[in-house]
Amino acid sequence: MPPSRPSPRPILLSVHDAVVTRRSIRQYQARPIERETLQRLVDAGRLAPSAANLQPLEFIVVDEPEVRDHVFPALKWAAYIHPNGDPKPGHKPQAYIIVLVNANVREKMYEYDVGAAVEAMAVSAWAEGIGSCWLISIDRDRIQAALGVPASHRIDSVLSLGYPAETSSVEEYKDSVRYWKDPDGSFHVPKRKLRDVCHFNAF
Ligand SMILES: Cc1cc2nc3c(=O)[nH]c(=O)nc-3n(C[C@H](O)[C@H](O)[C@H](O)COP(=O)(O)O)c2cc1C
Repeated sequence: MPPSRPSPRPILLSVHDAVVTRRSIRQYQARPIERETLQRLVDAGRLAPSAANLQPLEFIVVDEPEVRDHVFPALKWAAYIHPNGDPKPGHKPQAYIIVLVNANVREKMYEYDVGAAVEAMAVSAWAEGIGSCWLISIDRDRIQAALGVPASHRIDSVLSLGYPAETSSVEEYKDSVRYWKDPDGSFHVPKRKLRDVCHFNAF
């Protein structure tokens, strides 16, 4: 079956290419992201798979500069290289998608749903040339107070968004999972080798 709605944007990457070339991006251009685009990303999260189809997730899009300024201090970036991975002045995210879990719908075992939704949004963003970083090292109390999130809704994650102002590439894993930054600012992320994680028919 073809998709019920035509894509409003040209497809820039195959799904596979978008998935494998997506990297966490933590430096962003000072270029706004259109509301329509942000809504489309949330739609990707909304339509992600959900255990028992309970759909406990809700999303707050933050794109106004004064609200962004309340969210930014609640985020911790790239712990292995702190503070070198923090977004530099002029390179902060242009938007955030705050992922909420409605505890009235599901109190436990919602993490799979969150993972599916955040990956869907991150890959959709990347396919449109928008970088993102999924953050769970966040000050939830601060975000809750700043955005008026009711106690019924747990703040799970934040997806930061913006057009990239850094490059990040995959490196072959040798003896450490720690990512690093070059003196020129480009990011390097070790990934375990395919042959070490992929088993056919038996371990
Ligand atoms: C569940 C989860 C939580 C994460 N939390 C943070 C975070 O709080 N801060 C951050 O800078 N990056 C965070 N990351 C990004 C990881 O550091 C990143 O995915 C990893 O280094 C691999 O790099 P890649 O995304 O470019 O493949 C998180 C990723 C995942 C999947």
